[in-house]
Amino acid sequence: MTEVAVAVIGAGAIGRAHCETIRRSTSCRLVAIAEPAAAGRAYAEGLGVPCYSDARDLLEAVKPQAAIIATPNATHRAFAIACIERGIVALVEKPVASTLADAAAIAAASERAGVPVLVGHHRRHNPIARRARAMIAEGALGRLTNATVLATFYKPPDYFDVVWRREAGGGPVLINLIHEIDLIRHLCGEIASVQAVTSNAVRGFEVEDSAAILLRLAGGALVTLSLSDTAASPWSWDLASGESPNYPPQPAMVQTHFLCGTDGALALPTLEHWHYASAKSWFAPISRDEIGLTRGDPYLAQIDHLARVVRAEEAPLITARDGMLTLRATMAVHKAAETGQIVRPDQEMQL
Ligand SMILES: NC(=O)c1ccc[n+]([C@@H]2O[C@H](COP(=O)([O-])OP(=O)(O)OC[C@H]3O[C@@H](n4cnc5c(N)ncnc54)[C@H](O)[C@@H]3O)[C@@H](O)[C@H]2O)c1
Repeated sequence: MTEVAVAVIGAGAIGRAHCETIRRSTSCRLVAIAEPAAAGRAYAEGLGVPCYSDARDLLEAVKPQAAIIATPNATHRAFAIACIERGIVALVEKPVASTLADAAAIAAASERAGVPVLVGHHRRHNPIARRARAMIAEGALGRLTNATVLATFYKPPDYFDVVWRREAGGGPVLINLIHEIDLIRHLCGEIASVQAVTSNAVRGFEVEDSAAILLRLAGGALVTLSLSDTAASPWSWDLASGESPNYPPQPAMVQTHFLCGTDGALALPTLEHWHYASAKSWFAPISRDEIGLTRGDPYLAQIDHLARVVRAEEAPLITARDGMLTLRATMAVHKAAETGQIVRPDQEMQL
């Protein structure tokens, strides 16, 4: 089958990772890069692919079938719309945009034109998440009651040499927690309300370094999330799941996500399933099935999915509208922390 022609807009950290993934894939081929900075242009030259400093020039000249938008968040809207106008399928990195208005504009343009836009919440493509979602859908947990998510890890001091990472919006809520919010929505359903407390007590920067969050889901389940980027801890999906080569393997497996229902419980990433073999009671023994860590590269799976969307074999696993709802729920965490109020994203946060 012919490989799908893909361009990458923005050859920074994640843009380069996408370039490498495309080069490893058998479903897509990298046809061009758009990047104004000298380092990114040298990178493109090293790969032997044409590089344009203006992404629109690339789209006009190369006419790729798909483009990956891996630029700063505030530019996502303009590049996504430029792709949609040309009938080019776009994979927009997360967050889908920097504001809800931009996210809504991308979603509306994509739907109006019938040109798919995917959002780079790559974790949905991880086989662990796929298996967990299937188990929940098949009723392995019964009715969901509670979930606990630990996202506690340590970013070294030099990470904060970049000014925007010390300022409001540059912190672990919008950068890291958004992945947890998206996974909760994907596995457990829509978020009806959000309560949160954030803290900058350790680093003292304008941005938060820790947060405690409580979600009520539309189905009634309650979710607590503990977040910190200044905790010397292994309890983080990125560290435990082994999905990214950026993090070293841990000496022992740890669980980071605990999902509970009326008929069973599931711990991730190892997919440890707890349930009663006979009558359900805390006085009876409970059994444990260890399904085990099913490793697979979610970034590669995402690229293969992009190819199938271009070929109209699949609908996007996460559309621009879906990405917008994840962004809205994540922004609700900041709003809840600032106001001390319970925030209902669908009623109180304008799109
Ligand atoms: N899914 C993930 O795992 C993941 C991980 C990291 C970052 N991201 C997201 O990817 C995006 C980029 O993040 P990053 O960490 O790679 O940032 P980065 O700063 O390393 O890279 C951004 C690149 O875009 C280039 N750029 C800026 N303006 C441009 C323009 N007008 N046209 C073309 N290129 C332009 C910059 O020169 C830079 O090379 C952000 O939206 C971020 O949230 C996602």
